[in-house]
Amino acid sequence: MKLLLLGLRVHGFEWIELIKVFFRYSFHRPFLKAFLELKFRYLLDSPFQVSKRYLLNKQSEDVYLYGETPLTALDEISTKAELNATDHVFELGAGSGFTSLWLATVAGVRVTSIEQVPTFCRRLRRVSQSMASGCLKVIEEDYLESDLSEASVIYLYASNLDDLTIRCLTLRMLALKSGSKVISVSYPLQEYCPVPGVFKLKQQFTVRFPWGEAEVFLQVRTSDVQRSSG
Ligand SMILES: C[S@@+](CC[C@H](N)C(=O)[O-])C[C@H]1O[C@@H](n2cnc3c(N)ncnc32)[C@H](O)[C@@H]1O
Repeated sequence: MKLLLLGLRVHGFEWIELIKVFFRYSFHRPFLKAFLELKFRYLLDSPFQVSKRYLLNKQSEDVYLYGETPLTALDEISTKAELNATDHVFELGAGSGFTSLWLATVAGVRVTSIEQVPTFCRRLRRVSQSMASGCLKVIEEDYLESDLSEASVIYLYASNLDDLTIRCLTLRMLALKSGSKVISVSYPLQEYCPVPGVFKLKQQFTVRFPWGEAEVFLQVRTSDVQRSSG
């Protein structure tokens, strides 16, 4: 019963979100065109089903892990993070890529979307190829092996990661230039980084996700890494 109620709440949230997105961005032609083109590619199977199929294939223990950042929440996050046209955002685990599309068209930043699910990458790549700006690049790979040195901003929404994976990811982020921003949903990264002083928490705020309120952490990659005196 509880599960059913949660399902209804999530569906309700998603419909309201869709209406808000149309009202808020219907004037934004490049976004609307790309958004509808990508939506069309999910008419027969939702991103949730695509993810579930992939996880079943991988014999993952939990095949219901998928979720997306609502675009209205992403709007709030981008404003708080003060994204601007010179930024290059790496989205780690881009999923179906609606967030990457929004970042590339509405926020107007360069985007590199990294995702492990081939179907997500294939569909997003097709849409990105028909976009005039050419500022969205899709890479199919494990983000634990990605070169992040070109990023000025990282966006990570992956609430289900285990501690060891988050640690490995923070080590990857040592390659970031100082001053780069790292936005993570649900947990701050500095607690997981084995090298002290690499990330400084600049802001923490709450946004609404379909499942409830989410804490968002905005961290900055510092230049002065403290050496442990042991
Ligand atoms: C919670 S979804 C977030 C989707 C999107 N970023 C958003 O905010 O709407 C997480 C995505 O990360 C992908 N993912 C998980 N681990 C990954 C890894 N090691 N490398 C690349 N992608 C990964 C999953 O396949 C899934 O599509």
